Amino acid sequence: MALIECRQLTKTYRKGESTIKPLDRLDLDVEQGSFLALMGPSGSGKTTLLNLIAGIDHPTSGSLTIDGQNIAKLSRSKLAAWRSDNVGYVFQLYNLVPVLTAYENVELPMLLHPISRKERHERVATALSLVGLADRHDHYPRQLSGGQEQRVAIARAIVTDPAILVADEPTGDLDKPSALAVMDLLTRLNQELGKTLIMVTHDAQTAEYANRTLHLDKGRLADDSVQAAFSGETATTQGAAS
Ligand SMILES: Nc1ncnc2c1ncn2[C@@H]1O[C@H](COP(=O)(O)OP(=O)(O)O)[C@@H](O)[C@H]1O
Ligand SMILES: [Mg+2]
Repeated sequence: MALIECRQLTKTYRKGESTIKPLDRLDLDVEQGSFLALMGPSGSGKTTLLNLIAGIDHPTSGSLTIDGQNIAKLSRSKLAAWRSDNVGYVFQLYNLVPVLTAYENVELPMLLHPISRKERHERVATALSLVGLADRHDHYPRQLSGGQEQRVAIARAIVTDPAILVADEPTGDLDKPSALAVMDLLTRLNQELGKTLIMVTHDAQTAEYANRTLHLDKGRLADDSVQAAFSGETATTQGAAS
């Protein structure tokens, strides 16, 4: 059984008289430990799909089973609790809180978890080390480069040790060297820590880091090209090499 199973997943929005259907009866399986890239034109439903998988939004119909649980059926508050335990979200524009330091930004999601101050401190320190920014813990976002801000945002996404990471165009606003550093980091989180990673990107080269690429078009999957058979034993490095 796949970690994530979307069945006839549909999202509609009412807009005045008409309805918009960003996701239209989508079927999708995502295996545990895989790295999936989502591509497709603007407005094709990529962010909508990420938000459903991340438990930020409810589907209109269909089922979304993650680790055996249909999260489409959870109440708003149960879904929020589920999200904070299971999913880390990385945004294109980082979404750091400007008046908080790097340390405090990473600490934020931990405040929802009932753990001691000491353990919280250890987890934040570990997450910041993992992204290579332990020495910037007291910097504010404005004192960091875009690439560093995104790495702090990744530390924030993993500090609760979620099984699933979703990233919406994580390198979309970065220069090439920073984008490479962020992709190396995301690839390590997938390959070394086993995070299941779903990433939206417009860039074919960035998609090559993934072991599978899907194209969305008008809320449906256009194809399913498995770039490297995902087996779990041979972590592919083809993306990292190019
Ligand atoms: N909260 C919302 N209310 C109304 N329409 C929305 C909302 N979110 C997304 N949409 C619409 O759904 C469609 C798909 O959006 P989105 O998933 O953001 O596409 P993508 O990320 O592929 O660019 C677009 O037409 C968008 O305008
Ligand atoms: Mg989008």
